[in-house]
Amino acid sequence: MEINNLFDNLLPKIEQRLRELTAEKGDGINEARKAMGYILLNGGKRIRPVLLLEFYKLCGGEGDSALNFAAAIEMIHTYSLIHDDLPCMDNDDMRRGKPSCHKAFGEDTALLAGDALLTLAFSTAAKTESIPPERVLRAICVLADNAGIDGMVGGQAMDLKLEKTGAVAEELLEMYLKKTSCLLKAAAVCGCVLAGADEEYVKYAAEYADSLGLAFQIIDDILDCTADEKTLGKPIGSDEKNGKTTFVTLCGIDGARKRAKELSQNAENLLDNFKGDSTSLKELTKYLLNRSY
Ligand code: IPE
Ligand code: IPE
Ligand code: MG
Ligand code: MG
Ligand code: MG
Repeated sequence: MEINNLFDNLLPKIEQRLRELTAEKGDGINEARKAMGYILLNGGKRIRPVLLLEFYKLCGGEGDSALNFAAAIEMIHTYSLIHDDLPCMDNDDMRRGKPSCHKAFGEDTALLAGDALLTLAFSTAAKTESIPPERVLRAICVLADNAGIDGMVGGQAMDLKLEKTGAVAEELLEMYLKKTSCLLKAAAVCGCVLAGADEEYVKYAAEYADSLGLAFQIIDDILDCTADEKTLGKPIGSDEKNGKTTFVTLCGIDGARKRAKELSQNAENLLDNFKGDSTSLKELTKYLLNRSY
């Protein structure tokens, strides 16, 4: 099943909110605003906002109150992609099926577009209405901590280091937990926190996302070797070009897939701890394991 069919009730709302937030303001001279929308509104699977909204619902949250947070996390993810593609990072020329942000707008404007998405994310999250402010405040901290130096940014820093030194499996797992699991964890945990879930469920959501994120990054490693560029929407062979150690270089395609399967199953099992209906989150977990882009 395609993700569009799975979440056809959520995706249009997410797209709409992202469009509203980055709408042109008649300041045509501001190229960074154009560059923000260029990558943000150009597809992407929207996994993180979907996760956030699904956990919100699973924990009893109602209505569209968490939509700003969903948009915020997609903006943070998109900024991370823009910066990840820069020549000083992975130096990749294609993203979401089009020339990467710096290819289309130049490195200077791409850098600013990333900065702008990151900061807009936090003002958007802070403008959440109809949810008790103490929950919103806690969720903002969860988002910041998982996006920052002890989260995604920290993982990207480890990635740069390990690119030079090589890595063993334990180091890779630690790096993947930060660079990839952390934003997925922010999504799952923010969903629970905003819905006012009990702490035990917040913990299960965090464990779920840790496992899901590891599986997700291992599949990303595999697709970097096996996908075709058109389907993937980003260059293949990027990891090899940059001399990265990945689960594929450590365990081969089959070994990496086996590891991803185990992690994905573990994530699915953790969903059984929730009282509500987790069918769609289980479907999402399976979809992400078997995805082709
Ligand atoms: C790509 O994330 C970066 C990783 C963390 C592996 P996605 O595969 O979710 O990218 P989009 O948002 O669908 O483009
Ligand atoms: C995840 O790793 C990147 C981020 C945290 C932004 P990759 O560098 O493998 O992601 P892709 O393959 O470029 O999307
Ligand atoms: Mg990278
Ligand atoms: Mg990359
Ligand atoms: Mg990759």
